Amino acid sequence: MKTKTLAFIGGGNMASAMINGLIEDGTDPAHILVAEPNQARREQLAVRFGIRTLEDNSEVARQADVLILAVKPQALEAVAKDLSPALQQQAPLCLSIAAGIRHASLQAWLGEDVPVIRVMPNTPAMLGAGASGLYAPGDINETQRELAEHIIRATGIAVWLDDESQMDALTAVSGSGPAYFFLFMEAMQNSAIKLGLPEKTAHLLVLQTALGAARMAMESASDLTDLRNSVTSPGGTTEAALNIFSNGGLAQLVDQALTGARDRSISLSESLGGDE
Ligand SMILES: NC(=O)c1ccc[n+]([C@@H]2O[C@H](COP(=O)([O-])OP(=O)(O)OC[C@H]3O[C@@H](n4cnc5c(N)ncnc54)[C@H](OP(=O)(O)O)[C@@H]3O)[C@@H](O)[C@H]2O)c1
Repeated sequence: MKTKTLAFIGGGNMASAMINGLIEDGTDPAHILVAEPNQARREQLAVRFGIRTLEDNSEVARQADVLILAVKPQALEAVAKDLSPALQQQAPLCLSIAAGIRHASLQAWLGEDVPVIRVMPNTPAMLGAGASGLYAPGDINETQRELAEHIIRATGIAVWLDDESQMDALTAVSGSGPAYFFLFMEAMQNSAIKLGLPEKTAHLLVLQTALGAARMAMESASDLTDLRNSVTSPGGTTEAALNIFSNGGLAQLVDQALTGARDRSISLSESLGGDE
């Protein structure tokens, strides 16, 4: 895999996160290519990562073994249709990371014979700590699946979904999820400052607590309920806080928020599905 050319169409935030993760994992920057319309961004990417950048999407597609479509969902239909002629001979394996764009739309825009896999990454990919979901229809062969999984595993964990509709749920959980934790940490930090801790101390304590809790949950054999119960003494401080969360409807609020994100993913798909 390390000798294959991995090319990105669009060199924005998510492409940068993935490139960082891939290089950290040992991918040779000489095998990474990015098509990006913005000249300043092309220069930034070339300097930051030591990769090749070009302006022309089709030229990049012609050089790719694996082509990662990393433009905004709203731009993808036009970009994919423009790329289609370049993909007709020796089509590279295409991975689309666009939120909410269905496989059928991608296939129609890129061309029926182009192998396409949907991937939903998240930004911790930049640290190799990403969580990505992959979906491919039955005609994608085992070698192509392994290649996609190998690339995505360089940026964190990768899970395959059996049913494309699960992508909407995964987008709501892990695609958008980092922002939920940032929001919760921000709220904890603000409260800690209000309770009298210096800002830097509050920040550090909140971040280390989040990291420690996530690591405990990852590394422990106990489930989340047992872990929570094990640090909640009857009548203690943790119980006082948890009761307030519970009485305030935290679980229902989280459920509403994730359902809202899932529904937005579905409505984006419906509005961006094009006329295929
Ligand atoms: N950010 C996340 O957390 C996240 C998570 C999961 C999935 N995604 C998916 O990742 C994709 C990219 O998101 P992002 O946050 O990285 O957006 P972004 O930062 O705006 O990156 C998109 C890049 O594509 C460039 N671009 C625009 N038109 C183009 C064209 N015709 N050809 C080639 N490149 C073009 C943009 O350049 P200009 O700035 O000059 O327009 C920009 O550099 C989206 O489809 C999104 O759904 C993002």
